[in-house]
Amino acid sequence: MPNHPPQNLTIATTGASGSIFLRQLLLAVENDARVQTVNFIASDSGLRVLAEELGIKGRANLVRQILVGERTKTSVRTTPNNRSKIQEQSNADIGANVASGSYPADAMIVIPCSVGTLARIANGIASHLIERAADVSLKEKRPLVLCVRETPFNKIHIRNMYRAADAGATVFPLIPAFYYRPASLDDMAREFAYRVLAHLGLPQPNSFRWKD
Ligand SMILES: Cc1cc2nc3c(=O)[nH]c(=O)nc-3n(C[C@H](O)[C@H](O)[C@H](O)COP(=O)(O)O)c2cc1C
Repeated sequence: MPNHPPQNLTIATTGASGSIFLRQLLLAVENDARVQTVNFIASDSGLRVLAEELGIKGRANLVRQILVGERTKTSVRTTPNNRSKIQEQSNADIGANVASGSYPADAMIVIPCSVGTLARIANGIASHLIERAADVSLKEKRPLVLCVRETPFNKIHIRNMYRAADAGATVFPLIPAFYYRPASLDDMAREFAYRVLAHLGLPQPNSFRWKD
């Protein structure tokens, strides 16, 4: 873990259900001034699920489509040259910045993480950028958070979660809390995203805190 809040994040999304969690995470980092750079990677299956769950149409302007969705009317902060700090990288481009340990990425989140991507990460199969960047995170001893989503789990999934955790990843399953009584699905997903960010040293000012 860096001794400063992570400034350079890698966020990947894969073909598991839970696109609203990704949207809330991207909204939070886009509006968090501590985060300077986000490299965003979506697998082809991730794009398919985004289409099913958020009505995303194709890869064009993907980040903007996710951030300013038809259900979420939130203003999006941009840099002075009007570019989002979230830059998309192609999952096929194993020569992209985050494929190298020399690139100063601080932490990586896979949300949602399919059990297929979990399996590849847990077994060192780094044939696409998402798995390669995760592999680099582990070898460089940088935080890697895997928001795994499947139900029920078979023994292969459970073994792979163990293997990933044993290699240094945090298995952070897409299991939201209910004790703060979320008012909506977006509210539930936002609190979950805030928990992920707090885990990485980016606590969010408006997050729910349990009171004694
Ligand atoms: C609508 C939809 C929902 C899916 N939900 C899940 C899921 O929750 N978890 C999962 O592991 N796979 C799920 N899948 C299957 C994966 O997308 C599939 O195994 C894919 O090959 C994963 O590829 P990726 O890991 O490269 O993104 C879903 C597929 C679709 C079309």
